[in-house]
Amino acid sequence: MAQNPSLDTLVSLAKRRGFIYPGSEIYGGLAGTYDYGPLGVTLKKNIENLWWRTFVEERDDMYGVDAAILMNPKAWEASGHVSGFSDPLVECANCKKRFRADHLEDPNTCPGCGKQGTLGEARQFNMMFKTQIGATEDESATVYLRPETAGGMFVNFKNVVDSFHPKLPFGLAQIGKAFRNEIAPRDFIFRVRELEQMEVEYFVRPTEWEAAFEAWRQSMHEFAKAVGLPDESVHELEVAPEDRAHYSKRTIDFEFDYPFGRKELWGLAYRTDFDLSAHQAASGQSLAYMDEETKEKLVPHVIEPSFGVGRTLLAVLVSAYREDELGGETRSYLALNPKVAPVKAMVSPLLKNKPELVAKAREVRAALQKVHPAIAWDDNGNIGKRYRRQDEIGTPFCITVDFDTLGETPEQKDTVTLRNRDTGEQERLTIEEAGKRIRDALS
Ligand code: GAP
Repeated sequence: MAQNPSLDTLVSLAKRRGFIYPGSEIYGGLAGTYDYGPLGVTLKKNIENLWWRTFVEERDDMYGVDAAILMNPKAWEASGHVSGFSDPLVECANCKKRFRADHLEDPNTCPGCGKQGTLGEARQFNMMFKTQIGATEDESATVYLRPETAGGMFVNFKNVVDSFHPKLPFGLAQIGKAFRNEIAPRDFIFRVRELEQMEVEYFVRPTEWEAAFEAWRQSMHEFAKAVGLPDESVHELEVAPEDRAHYSKRTIDFEFDYPFGRKELWGLAYRTDFDLSAHQAASGQSLAYMDEETKEKLVPHVIEPSFGVGRTLLAVLVSAYREDELGGETRSYLALNPKVAPVKAMVSPLLKNKPELVAKAREVRAALQKVHPAIAWDDNGNIGKRYRRQDEIGTPFCITVDFDTLGETPEQKDTVTLRNRDTGEQERLTIEEAGKRIRDALS
């Protein structure tokens, strides 16, 4: 069972153990940005790889793309983002701080300075970051950092159809950065200004949208489970028509029980033919799909499952965090699914000042790295401390090479101890058996 750690506990673990650091920290940070450290980037890549494998590689109806972040600004005009990708903003006349009008607890009280009646009228604030392309600096050079990865897939719909002639239904998938000038970034990596998304645009005949929506709904729940989120922490919210994005006719928010409340984790939207029709009208290029067999011509409709990488990673950490008593001591550990754990196993010589133990342990590590390269080495401090360090970063197995491995007890020659992270229990196994344990945990 997950143990609902506080956000402070996770922020401090993430910083201390090299998962996530505040962005540009030595300069005092930059609001809404975070940097992933060595363990964080591996955890993030493992989550992304699991997603890519599940939704692209293991399916015959999916096509991956990696589109440019900078796109022709006409694409964002057509998609409605230039005119409509905004949040309501209010400014306090006293402290000059700005807030999202729809997040205020009391619309008459400034959450910054506490004064009453100082918040001005709400105005719409467009969240797209602007920059300039090329050497000119006038309006004609304005481009946007993409606010969602979706756009890069809609503009490549025709390319993929022309290259691969897929049959409907089929989808495009992309993992990449998106940028939003959030008025109030908050809650660690939950709401940031530079984010990553894993998105699918799944193209269907208009009559098929409900079945596809339902299938994706199930697939999203299955992915939640696969990545390590317990069923009881993931909830669906049917988004009311007035709260849906401008392009959506139906949206379900997948919410997660974060330490700061139940909040949006992922979204599933029925975007109709809004995007392809809008890009077709604005670009003058036909984005109609022609069924080669029936000669039917149509603009496909779209089901869009959209996953935030950071929000997934945060939910994974929340779900994995545990505290218990082991050997009379309190310990904290991350019960990460081995598939996403940054380190799969740690190998250690019992004593680091015995060259024969060290040499054998190096040999064992090299053998296990043939199963998976992410096998750590730790010979620092006593063995109990090494175990605790690996527990805290979620390493499923610790393998120790001792004198019995060298043959001190002849029948135990070439065996090692394998310690299980979650139970703390140890077994004596051959090196091959230890490798099999790791392989089984990853399959
Ligand atoms: N293409 C659809 C789209 O972008 P969205 O609901 O605006 O829809 C999709 O975003 C997902 O991206 C969210 O469910 C969340 O996981 C993630 N996300 C959105 N804004 C974010 C932010 N400021 N910081 C972190 N993740 C964010």
